[in-house]
Amino acid sequence: MTLDLSSDQLLSTTRAVRHRLDLTRPVARELLEECVDLAVQAPTGRNRQRWHFVIVTDPDRRAALADAWRAGVSAPGTSPALRDRDLRRMNVVDGVMDRVFSGAAHLYERLHEVPALVVPCVEGRTDDAAVVHQAGTWGSILPAAWSFMLAARARGLGTCWTSGNVANEKEAARILDIPYGEVMQAALIPVAHTIGTDFRPARRVPRDEVLHWDRW
Ligand SMILES: Cc1cc2nc3c(=O)[nH]c(=O)nc-3n(C[C@H](O)[C@H](O)[C@H](O)COP(=O)(O)O)c2cc1C
Repeated sequence: MTLDLSSDQLLSTTRAVRHRLDLTRPVARELLEECVDLAVQAPTGRNRQRWHFVIVTDPDRRAALADAWRAGVSAPGTSPALRDRDLRRMNVVDGVMDRVFSGAAHLYERLHEVPALVVPCVEGRTDDAAVVHQAGTWGSILPAAWSFMLAARARGLGTCWTSGNVANEKEAARILDIPYGEVMQAALIPVAHTIGTDFRPARRVPRDEVLHWDRW
């Protein structure tokens, strides 16, 4: 069963869901499998399909992963420096960042209670690689991860892109038995049924500020 959403509605209302994750309702394995089936329709460089999705539902492992994620989120130096332009864009809507911080704090406290934690991974490390190799590797997992989130939204599931595990990647790899030397984690996506299914398009920076025709 999927929600009655047009493709444009799906693309414009797949929000970062935190307060409205239903922590009391398990997510059926089949729904998560369907999301993975759709995710792997995404493109990959040379069709190499080096993607993996580690889906964690076991409560003890979720708790351990959530602890590692929290340590990553709180680690000094994990937040990039903000420029004036960033601050202006972040606050393009009054009060929006208060809501983001409130949601992020809620997720921080409750991550271990979210019924499924999904870690999209890609084979091949790019720690010291040239930009073209970084782009090729991340470009071969991030579209799939976003497709997973869109497929989840279509099924009444909420998600939120996060990367605390990436900031504490070795520890998260140890907990999940991911071969750290060969495989990179791209994100950690909490997944739960949403409380209600109505989500609105976000207001973003004006198009003219980001769209460049023919030259920068
Ligand atoms: C790379 C990346 C990292 C993020 N990390 C977190 C996070 O650690 N915690 C969190 O609650 N949200 C996180 N988010 C979600 C963003 O805060 C969210 O996408 C943004 O505020 C816009 O909200 P919207 O997607 O609902 O429009 C992250 C998003 C991205 C793309």
